[in-house]
Amino acid sequence: MDMTNKTATLSFEGKTLDLPILKPTHGPDVIDIRKLYETGDVFTYDPGFTSTAACESTITFIDGDKGELLYRGYPIEQLADKSHYLEVCYLLLYGELPNAAQIEDFEGRVTKHTMVHEQMHNFFRGFRRDSHPMATMVGVVGAMSAFYHDSLDINDAWQREVAAIRMIAKLPTIAAMAYKYSIGQPFVYPKNTLDYAGNFLHMCFAVPCEDYVVEPALAKAMDRIMTLHADHEQNASTSTVRLAGSSGANPFACIAAGIACLWGPAHGGANQACLEMLREIGTVDKIPEAIRRAKDKNDPFRLMGFGHRVYKNFDPRAKVMKESADEVLDLLGFHNNPTLQVAKELERIALDDDYFVSKKLYPNVDFYSGIILEAMGFPTSMFTPIFAVSRTVGWISQWKEMIADPTQKIGRPRQLYIGAARRDYVDVAAR
Ligand code: ACO
Repeated sequence: MDMTNKTATLSFEGKTLDLPILKPTHGPDVIDIRKLYETGDVFTYDPGFTSTAACESTITFIDGDKGELLYRGYPIEQLADKSHYLEVCYLLLYGELPNAAQIEDFEGRVTKHTMVHEQMHNFFRGFRRDSHPMATMVGVVGAMSAFYHDSLDINDAWQREVAAIRMIAKLPTIAAMAYKYSIGQPFVYPKNTLDYAGNFLHMCFAVPCEDYVVEPALAKAMDRIMTLHADHEQNASTSTVRLAGSSGANPFACIAAGIACLWGPAHGGANQACLEMLREIGTVDKIPEAIRRAKDKNDPFRLMGFGHRVYKNFDPRAKVMKESADEVLDLLGFHNNPTLQVAKELERIALDDDYFVSKKLYPNVDFYSGIILEAMGFPTSMFTPIFAVSRTVGWISQWKEMIADPTQKIGRPRQLYIGAARRDYVDVAAR
């Protein structure tokens, strides 16, 4: 990390502390408060980490005001346009774009790990048929640590590498199995002649009794959805993975923790919640009522797919996703898809409304992704699992970065205790 010559001075209760200021490649300077408690006997208070950098990282950068997202320095729009998901995985994991031999080797390694241990099939069968696929995924991914004992030693760089490849390769298989199980269809084994996204579509939509041909344009759209979701710096699920990993927990347990966090409607669950909201609004004439409810402080209703902790401008991923929605719906012949019409009109009205403008609430990545996934044939319950599949590479890259950092410590926040003051135990008869 780069130090600046600058310091921040903090004065309180007659003490004056000079705090070093660190210089990032991009983004605001960071005041280093690591010695604050030791030297000043105070904590800082920042629930939700709105002003706190919890780690240093070289992977992803977001400029929320400009609406910019960079993976290892490359703008997301360029990657979505020119690259493909497995190349982006390589970039996130290893820091540089691969040359031709490197990508061939990487794709080969991922492809050879796509099957899951056969005994895992029995494990799936223990879930109720109506389980949400995210519930199944949290359980099954956590259980990978019971199946792959040779990639659990976090102090062995090779085992960390194998765990990373296994997860990138097997998460699509696990998500597709969770889906197949929930609809009572047989599991479809991976097909290694297909590309990553095409194989995922195949495992979700093929059945043994007839041929399923992957439509290349849909595989490309799926690949793009995966690319757009691959990483997003220190979001809630990534921070969960880092925190779980900071104790030395095995990588499969850490990714399962990330999946659990992603499930919430304020995070990855928003894509499901957004499509359900758009369907509930149903027609363009109902939009004003939805806007009125979203603005009402006494109504818990929020416009799902709108707003973001970091972006105070357009989420650049939403722009790409909107273009993809048009392309995919055209391709599938849904020219006048009512949900897309509602989404576009809702976006137009909200972006013209003082409440949303003044609070800088713009569509996020989830606003259009559900429309594409629904058009491809996925039920809403699969939206968040697809997000989890795509984000696995981000989680594992961040986890690997953390484990390899010699200064890494267990994550252990402090608190502002506001409970009862010390008091003596009272015997039950005297209460
Ligand atoms: N609809 C209506 N009002 C909103 C919305 C929304 N979607 N989002 C934020 N606001 C309002 C809040 O009521 C608050 O108003 P106030 O200042 O008058 O109290 C203000 O905007 C700031 O909102 P916070 O919740 O404090 O912002 P925070 O950064 O904590 O939350 C979040 C960000 C969770 C994404 C929020 O915007 C939200 O709930 N959006 C809907 C869910 C969603 O789409 N999540 C996906 C996020 S992207 C991702 O995970 C892939």
